Amino acid sequence: MKRLHFHILATLIVMVLSYQVNAQTDYSYKNKSLPIETRVQDLLGRMTLEEKAGQLNQLNGGVLTGPQAANDPGQQGKLKLLRDGKIGSFLNVVGAAETKAVQKIAIEESRLGIPLLFAYDVIHGFKTVFPIPLAEACSWEPAMAEKASGIAANEAAAAGLHWTFAPMMDLTRDPRWGRVMEGSGEDPLINSVFAAARVRGFQGNFDNHHVMACVKHFAAYGQPEGGKEYNTVDMSRYSFWNTYSPSYHAAVDAGAATVMNSFNVFDGIPATANKFLNTDVLRNRWGFKGFLVSDWASYGELITHGVAADAAEAALKGILAGSQMDMESSAVVNNLPQLIKDGKVPQSLLDDAVSKILYWKFKLGLFDDPYKYSDEKREAATMLTPASLETARDAARKSMVLLKNDKNTLPLSKNTKNVLVAGFFADSQEDALDFWCGKGEAKDVVTYRNGIANKLPKATINYAQGYEASGKTNGKLLVDLKKKARGADVIVAVIGITGKHAGEARSLADITPPEGQMEMLRALKASGKPFVVVVHAARPMVLTEVEKLAPAILNAWIGGTAMGNGAADVLFGDYNPSAKTVISFPVSVGQIPVYYNAYSTGRPHEDGHDGPNDFWVSRYRDIPNSPLYPFGYGMSYTSFEYGDLKLSAAEMTASQTVTATVSVKNTGSREGEEIVQLYLRDLVGTYSRPVKELKGFEKINLKPSESKTVTFTIDSKMLSYFDFDGNTLLEPGKFQVFVGGNSRDVKTADLRLK
Ligand code: BGC
Repeated sequence: MKRLHFHILATLIVMVLSYQVNAQTDYSYKNKSLPIETRVQDLLGRMTLEEKAGQLNQLNGGVLTGPQAANDPGQQGKLKLLRDGKIGSFLNVVGAAETKAVQKIAIEESRLGIPLLFAYDVIHGFKTVFPIPLAEACSWEPAMAEKASGIAANEAAAAGLHWTFAPMMDLTRDPRWGRVMEGSGEDPLINSVFAAARVRGFQGNFDNHHVMACVKHFAAYGQPEGGKEYNTVDMSRYSFWNTYSPSYHAAVDAGAATVMNSFNVFDGIPATANKFLNTDVLRNRWGFKGFLVSDWASYGELITHGVAADAAEAALKGILAGSQMDMESSAVVNNLPQLIKDGKVPQSLLDDAVSKILYWKFKLGLFDDPYKYSDEKREAATMLTPASLETARDAARKSMVLLKNDKNTLPLSKNTKNVLVAGFFADSQEDALDFWCGKGEAKDVVTYRNGIANKLPKATINYAQGYEASGKTNGKLLVDLKKKARGADVIVAVIGITGKHAGEARSLADITPPEGQMEMLRALKASGKPFVVVVHAARPMVLTEVEKLAPAILNAWIGGTAMGNGAADVLFGDYNPSAKTVISFPVSVGQIPVYYNAYSTGRPHEDGHDGPNDFWVSRYRDIPNSPLYPFGYGMSYTSFEYGDLKLSAAEMTASQTVTATVSVKNTGSREGEEIVQLYLRDLVGTYSRPVKELKGFEKINLKPSESKTVTFTIDSKMLSYFDFDGNTLLEPGKFQVFVGGNSRDVKTADLRLK
């Protein structure tokens, strides 16, 4: 009996032990059924210090396989690092076949087989190029930007990519800055809603038809002094909290997986080494859970900024401040293990960063199927589909802002027999693409000339170059222009700035149209023929002289692959323009920065008040204070009349709300869309407050003679703001409420917060 008992007991012990052994095996990171956190911890426990630092290393890949790479020591060096477990991510490795081949090396030839993340700048489209983000924001239709980002993500994911470095949401008030095109203009609310929409569009539900988004550039990169790229940023914390930070916060709240450092200093400390930004604000205040990536070489640039003596100190300062993945500088991979061994950096900081990066690799499913994004068949079938091109066309026409339209010059008749399309940019596919056009190709772009030809298949469409590609005057081209103008019924003249001057490192000191373009317009004016001007530029230009000459101006921005079709829809009335600019158009370069939401000054100047007693006020003596076209401005082919603004109550408490209603009527003869805008002004606060702040908007569609009542609910959040430390202030007192079709022409009512 005793023996039997012993036998049973022994069997039980063996069972328990073997169960534990099995369970332990099951606890490997390879076990799909375990929670991600458990898998991450398991894997972390198996990694060496060097392998951990390797996960924080992101390099510019390019083409890493094939005969050319095989003979390139630089590329072979990167592959060696990969095999040694010293690379966590590549940027610029693109295409289903290439990503698959490189991933295979990571999986099969590195010790732990940790999959790579492939990242790329998918800013406004991958293969199907959408309008520049600044233009898209002028639609005031975040749902459209979300859809466009979704299409871009689907194309990018089919090409093996997991991660886009977008959206950029650096609020800027300076059109000289080349990257003004990547953001959503000068207003915090517009930047925020578009940032969140794009994050949703890119990321979807993290399946292999979407890509991780990256909130960039954190923070305040949009305000380099003088609009000069990579220049110093110097702003008050008050402005940071109220104006510049909300869009990043909105994107983090929308669930963005990653955030990117900016190149600039903030309060004198480069963003990559800035603990206030990366730890205090991003992690502690906003609760960001994803991982942070540096901008290109921005760890290394701590040396040139003059805050680190060498790469080791750069890595030290960046990591201690809360920065994580190192794009391209190799400071982290080369120095962090030693810094930890020397006790200068706590191991927990590295473990935390690696855990976050691994988390996303698990979350995307790459440990279970490392090749799930790299499908050549799907890649071939996904790009430039008719549906994507149709969305791009819709986005283009909804982004184009009608700035001027004397005597209903536009829309042009579709019965026109002879159209002259003039201007170098009218016929150039190359100049329609910018630095951030992804894998978009010039050959796929529909130019303005072709768009118009598509619209009027029976008409004669002539073309005259008008000015040199550089913008210079050319006598021969002018003679040709004048000759062709004589035979035309109408002329569509395209001026602007090449897409090649849009984006990073492309700041311009002068954004007025060059002389050759103006000569062309003067010649057209002299011809006596009806003409309209299309402006092709990825920033607002100074159009003061153009405005004097041209009967009609359509600001087409840079509209992507389908821009010519989109423009033709607007020019010939198949689409009634509805866009409103999200950035002020300056009267002259000297007026920059000019923006609607400026703080009240002690000596404000009102336009038109230029009498002898209006001298000691904040103004230039040679130009007006107001921009040429204000924020929120854009015309339609129909007209809208605003009724009186009514508030449901003249007073409210912090827990109450007040509704502001206005009736808007279509008083013209065409159906059209109007963007109704709500602004507020806090008349007395502890801090000097902006003269107007956008707080809400609604895009409505009205048939001729139709009226609609638009209602905005004003709550205490809209009346509050941030102090210097980022604390919310809600201060009783007087407010003004404004509603209108742009930031200048508004109806006003008074409101008091008790
Ligand atoms: C830019 C980033 C971009 C990165 C990778 C940097 O120069 O500032 O916006 O994502 O390069 O291409």
